[in-house]
Amino acid sequence: MNIGIDKIGFYAPPYYVDMVELANERGDDPGKYTVGIGQEQMAVTPLSQDIVSMAVNAALQVINDTDRNKIDLVIVGTESGFDASKSAAVYVHELLGIQPHARSFEIKQACYGATAGLQMAKDYVTLHPDRAALVIGSDVARYGLATGGEVTQGGGAIAMFITANPRILTLEADATFYSRDIMDFWRPSYSEYAMVDGQYSNEQYVAFFAEVWKAYKEKTGRTLSEFEALCFHLPYTKMGKKALSQVLTETDDEKQQALMNHYQASTVLNRNVGNIYTGSLYLSLLSLLTASEALEAGDRIGLFSYGSGAVGEFFSGTLVDGYLKNLPTTKIKELFANRKQISVSQYEDIFSKVLPQDGSELTIPAEEDASPVRLVAVKEHKRFYGIG
Ligand code: HMG
Repeated sequence: MNIGIDKIGFYAPPYYVDMVELANERGDDPGKYTVGIGQEQMAVTPLSQDIVSMAVNAALQVINDTDRNKIDLVIVGTESGFDASKSAAVYVHELLGIQPHARSFEIKQACYGATAGLQMAKDYVTLHPDRAALVIGSDVARYGLATGGEVTQGGGAIAMFITANPRILTLEADATFYSRDIMDFWRPSYSEYAMVDGQYSNEQYVAFFAEVWKAYKEKTGRTLSEFEALCFHLPYTKMGKKALSQVLTETDDEKQQALMNHYQASTVLNRNVGNIYTGSLYLSLLSLLTASEALEAGDRIGLFSYGSGAVGEFFSGTLVDGYLKNLPTTKIKELFANRKQISVSQYEDIFSKVLPQDGSELTIPAEEDASPVRLVAVKEHKRFYGIG
């Protein structure tokens, strides 16, 4: 029985800032941002969007009424949770109108959360092939204005509908994983911003990839030459290239070029959104599938998930015949066409606005956010969402 990704949806907030403008404003060489880091545009999340509304906006692209009755699991991977008790998944379940006898919960392990959810969903559907799971990664990456991490901020959500006989990607039971307690990136619950040891986090990302890739080869006997493409968690698009470069010499020149070409395709969307944490690997997969014309059914795609702190995982999937028909290509084009560019000072203004921390009330204006779902108010320590 094949289990995997049947549908995938993506949402990014309605504003973005241009990275050349940001570099100029910060007194940096724009080449550092666009080439050294590899980012062109950065999504900016207004108060009217949070992890719940973004998750629902992504999932609305994916599910229909038949799916609503088939979903038994609603899993939200996030590291931007706003409640230490209640999960974002329970709000998402309600806002999407999913059948009531479902399990809904949140998973946290930095950017790895959605991968844990995906593997759990795959196992569940393997045991219950007539049922389905909804796995979402939704996050806002915030390091602070004019900080070293600012250039790697972003925000957005990915939603994946997991079924038997999937129409996009069949997931293999071949994952290798690795956990080690390190302090490369973390966010104490009293802090709005992530703490990060930037260069150490880069080193550990590459080291974790090396570890799980070695374990993968030992476990499966597969070689790099058997992969058409590798997708990576992309905190910024240069990062995956560093990891890929260290293994490229394991294959011949022609294959190296093909893998690099596919790597470029896998960065197109991430380059214009920034780090979306838990959804980032799956945004890269979506980017590859929508941007590459050189893929075909049966091709094997490797996926490297990394969540700081840290957990790494490598696994693979094979493309299903007709996968192109099930991609949200038009919706992605519309989403990018409808985003509005804002100036650096407008970005700073939006970034500096925060929701009440003391129980006071706030009604949030829509301004130019025409997304189907928005956060509309905070009252009595509760969040209220509006649809339509
Ligand atoms: P930095 O110190 O500002 O940048 O930090 P740098 O000096 O290292 O320069 C970056 C690159 O730009 C270098 O290239 C420079 O040579 C190049 P590299 O040596 O790396 O190949 N450069 C230029 N290139 C062209 N033209 C120029 C130019 N000038 C310099 N003029 C850093 C960068 C990413 C560390 C920082 O932004 C940061 O701390 N970001 C946040 C942490 C992060 O994203 N880490 C990634 C790995 S950890 C991870 O992926 C997990 C994460 O998603 C969290 C989670 O799991 O929840 C973050």
